[in-house]
Amino acid sequence: MRRPNQIFQTKSGLTGTIATARGRDAKSLQTFRRALHSAAKHLNASAVEAHEGWWDVYSTLRRLQNDPKSMIAVARLAGRIVGEVQVRGARYRRLQHDVRLGLGVHHDFTQQGIGAALLSYAIEAMRSADGVKRISLAVHGDNIAAQHLYRKAGFAQEGRRKGAIGPIDARNDVVVDEILMALYLDDKG
Ligand SMILES: CC(C)(COP(=O)(O)OP(=O)(O)OC[C@H]1O[C@@H](n2cnc3c(N)ncnc32)[C@H](O)[C@@H]1OP(=O)(O)O)[C@@H](O)C(=O)NCCC(=O)NCCS
Repeated sequence: MRRPNQIFQTKSGLTGTIATARGRDAKSLQTFRRALHSAAKHLNASAVEAHEGWWDVYSTLRRLQNDPKSMIAVARLAGRIVGEVQVRGARYRRLQHDVRLGLGVHHDFTQQGIGAALLSYAIEAMRSADGVKRISLAVHGDNIAAQHLYRKAGFAQEGRRKGAIGPIDARNDVVVDEILMALYLDDKG
């Protein structure tokens, strides 16, 4: 799906762009994801578990390119990928009105409004996607920044999976809940 690019401003005054990722972005997206997973404490997969080869990233980008209910969009500052939003549509017809969202911003660029800009880009894209009625996501109970961001964009909590997220590593014993949230796109008719 060809979607219009968007310009955004960071809180420190830099100008960036958000655009749908293409096959040619596979290598830089792979580098971005490696950095994201190495630093983020609130993702399900560790950096090792999340590892994907360049070809896997490329194939996914190519496959999703023509799916109106899925997207991978990236935020760039000075040409470098600093954030990513993913929306995945469901395979089965009865589930296709409900898409699933994931979001990540490089740790050097958080708290700059990039997460909010990516989220708003994805929501607008799904508002114009035929048949999409809701956007769902799951977030760790201790991921306060992400929950704040989602609530601000209109997502509401729908459920809580108690103790669903295990400790981050063997030196840690903290188990957290998983919060289920959704945004209804009911104003588009
Ligand atoms: C969560 C994440 C996407 C946020 O991205 P970001 O670019 O920092 O987001 P923004 O700068 O647009 O907004 C962050 C908001 O959270 C707020 N925030 C940050 N830390 C906070 C905290 N501890 N408590 C409350 N609010 C907090 C910021 O103040 C800001 O809100 P504001 O605009 O009202 O001031 C980013 O931290 C990230 O990628 N984390 C790792 C991966 C991840 O957790 N992804 C989400 C999986 S569901």
